[in-house]
Amino acid sequence: MSAEVYRDAARFERERRSVLVSHWLLAGRVEQVPGVGDWITYEGHGESVVITRQPDESLAAFHNVCAHRGPAIVGELSGCGARRFTCPYHGWVYDTTGRLVGVPEREDFDPAHLDTRAPSVAVDVWGGWIWINMLGPEKAPPLSSSIGSEILADLGAFRMEDMVLHEVLEFDVPVNYKAIVDGFNEIYHVTELHHVPPEFTKSAREATFHIVGDNYMCFVPKPEHVAELASPDYDHHRYAICHYLVFPNTVFNCNPEHIQVFQPVPIDVDRTRFLCWEIVYRGDHDDPEYARYFRRTMAHWEGLKHVVGEDISIYAQMARTKRSSAFTTQVLSSRECKIAHYHEQMDRKSRV
Ligand code: FES
Ligand SMILES: [Fe+2]
Repeated sequence: MSAEVYRDAARFERERRSVLVSHWLLAGRVEQVPGVGDWITYEGHGESVVITRQPDESLAAFHNVCAHRGPAIVGELSGCGARRFTCPYHGWVYDTTGRLVGVPEREDFDPAHLDTRAPSVAVDVWGGWIWINMLGPEKAPPLSSSIGSEILADLGAFRMEDMVLHEVLEFDVPVNYKAIVDGFNEIYHVTELHHVPPEFTKSAREATFHIVGDNYMCFVPKPEHVAELASPDYDHHRYAICHYLVFPNTVFNCNPEHIQVFQPVPIDVDRTRFLCWEIVYRGDHDDPEYARYFRRTMAHWEGLKHVVGEDISIYAQMARTKRSSAFTTQVLSSRECKIAHYHEQMDRKSRV
């Protein structure tokens, strides 16, 4: 595979204009905007989008771009209880759906220019996650058809809507976002980079890869349950680490008592904001059983943070060679088949 997939600026621009604006992207958790007028922003690949909670409890999303002369309307990345947003330049006022509702010295404008809004972005919720699609509400395909029935059922079994955000880690990484996705599309690296025990290396060879529409599922048997693999009613939700990739860049890692979402947000061809979301089941901390669950999960999460740190260390190694004249191609094994498929799919979709 060519190394250009990570460093060709023209290719990144095609992905930005054809893929990233037309697929559903993760923007946050519903519990981040609990009250009317609460908002969060999504910022990546040159786009800025505001997502707000409406009085009827639905969500609205719009491009954070002032219709007057183009700067961002909303400065803060999140906030509570807004009723209006005012552009800080000349004071144009927008409601929380992005409709223009106030213009100082309005008589100086052609009225036809003022019947406008910040362009709408499609927004929907699944699994307690807020998803956005910049095609807008009219043109975006339904979120459920983009995630697809297999992942809706299989990942849906974890009931992420019953979970709550515990922590988001954020890293500024000097490599292309697809290089980060690649690290979640193979298990080959875990022996050397993450120092897993030999039993894990062995059981991981039994992992299964599934292509479901644009997306992927992968089930990595846990070594302590490898004997159950032969059983006709093998339950991968219990005995495997379940892994899902919603194209182009949302990765779910189900452990399964707690779930991580790995989201490399493209910033530029060789720069990525890498978000690692940790969600846990809701519960009462005074309930001893829940308290035990929470302690166990937090101990595991601390261990996983260390694993994430090891992945980050590889991005630093990649950054050192990202323009090297010696790095022209990559060699993939059969167990790195998802990487090849992912890049073929990205290439095809970015030519549309
Ligand atoms: S640019 Fe926003 S009000 Fe003028
Ligand atoms: Fe890793």
